[in-house]
Amino acid sequence: MKFPPWTSVSEAADLLKAGEVVAIPTETVYGLAGNAYNPEALAKIFAAKERPTFDPLIVHIADIAELENVARDIPKSAYRLAEAFWPGPMTIILPKKDCIPDLCTSGLPSVAVRFPSHPVAQAIIKKSGLPLAAPSANLFKHVSPTTAEHVAAQLADRIAGIVDGGPCSVGVESAIISLAGDVPTVLRPGAITPEMFKAVLGEVAVKESTSKPGQAMQAPGQCDTHYRPQVPLYFGEVPAGYKLPEHTARIAFGNQAGAIPATVNLSATGDMTEATARLYAYMHDLDTPNYDLILVDPIPNKGIGIALNDRLKRASIKTLPLTD
Ligand code: TXA
Ligand code: MG
Repeated sequence: MKFPPWTSVSEAADLLKAGEVVAIPTETVYGLAGNAYNPEALAKIFAAKERPTFDPLIVHIADIAELENVARDIPKSAYRLAEAFWPGPMTIILPKKDCIPDLCTSGLPSVAVRFPSHPVAQAIIKKSGLPLAAPSANLFKHVSPTTAEHVAAQLADRIAGIVDGGPCSVGVESAIISLAGDVPTVLRPGAITPEMFKAVLGEVAVKESTSKPGQAMQAPGQCDTHYRPQVPLYFGEVPAGYKLPEHTARIAFGNQAGAIPATVNLSATGDMTEATARLYAYMHDLDTPNYDLILVDPIPNKGIGIALNDRLKRASIKTLPLTD
C-alpha cells in the first residue's frame, strides 16, 4: 500500500504547484485536487477517477475575494450567499473567466466555485497559492470518500498524495446553486437546504435532475446510477413476505426494531446531522463480499434529509433481487 504515510500540507502544496493531483479533506467529502488553471493537472484528475470529461469540476478557493479570479459578472446575490454560507458546504455556479480551462467546466460557459470550511483544505489552498479543481476523490459513480482510508482504497495507486484530515464532519457533497441563469436554481441538495437559500435570496428554483448521455451535465450526480456500492443497495419499502437473502445488512435510522443481525444505525435518536456524517462510511464498510444486499431504512425527506434521499435513490437498485 502506497498510503499511509499520509501527505503533509506542505508536501501537498508542492505537489499541486508541480501539476500533480492530491486528495485533500474537506468538511463534505474528500476531494481529488489539482491546479484549476492547468489543463494537464485537470486531465490527471479525470484519468485517476475514470470520470468522463463531460462532468465538470468544482473550483475551491480560500477567500471570498478569490471569487473574482475565476468568475465574472458576479451578481450581488453571490456575495449574499457567500456571506451567509462560506466557508462551508455550498457551491455557486457563475459565468467563468477565460483563465479557467474548458476542461474544468466541460466546455460550459459557467464555473462551479466553493470555499470549504475545513482548516486543512484552506491551508492547502493558501499554501499552494492556487484555486484547486476538486471532484470527490472516488472512482466515477462510486461512493464518495469521507475518510483518507476510503480514498486510499479506491485511488492509492493513481495519485501523488493523500492528506489525512480525519473523518468529514458533514459527510455529503456540497449543495450546488446556479446563479448563471435568470432564477437562482438549486442543482444538487446538500447541507444548505432550499429553505436556507430562500431565506437569503427570496425566489429559488429546485432542479429535478435529468441527464442526457454525452452532454455536459447541467446538474450534478445526474447519472441515475451514481454513488453505487458494489453490493446491491436497496432504499425503499420491502414488500411483506419478501424473503431476504441470507447475507443481508441493514443501515437503520432511528429507533426502529428489526430482525437483521448485521445492522448499523445512522442515528438511534433520529438526528439527521449525525446520520449524514455516518452514511457514506457505512456504505463503504458494508460494501464487502460478506453481503449480498444492503437495506437502508427510510429517512425523512426534509432538511439535510433531502440530500440523503437524493443520494440514496441514486445508490439504490430499482427492484429487489429474486429470492425463493
Ligand atoms: O462537496 C463537494 O462539492 C465535493 C468536495 C470535494 O468539494 N466535491 C464534489 O465534486 O462533490 P463532484 O465533482 O463529485 O461533483 C460536482 C458536481 C459535478 O457532478 C458537476 O456536474 C457539477 O458539480 N458541476 C460542476 N461545474 C458545473 C457547472 N459549471 N454547471 C453545472 N454543474 C456543474
Ligand atoms: Mg462526485
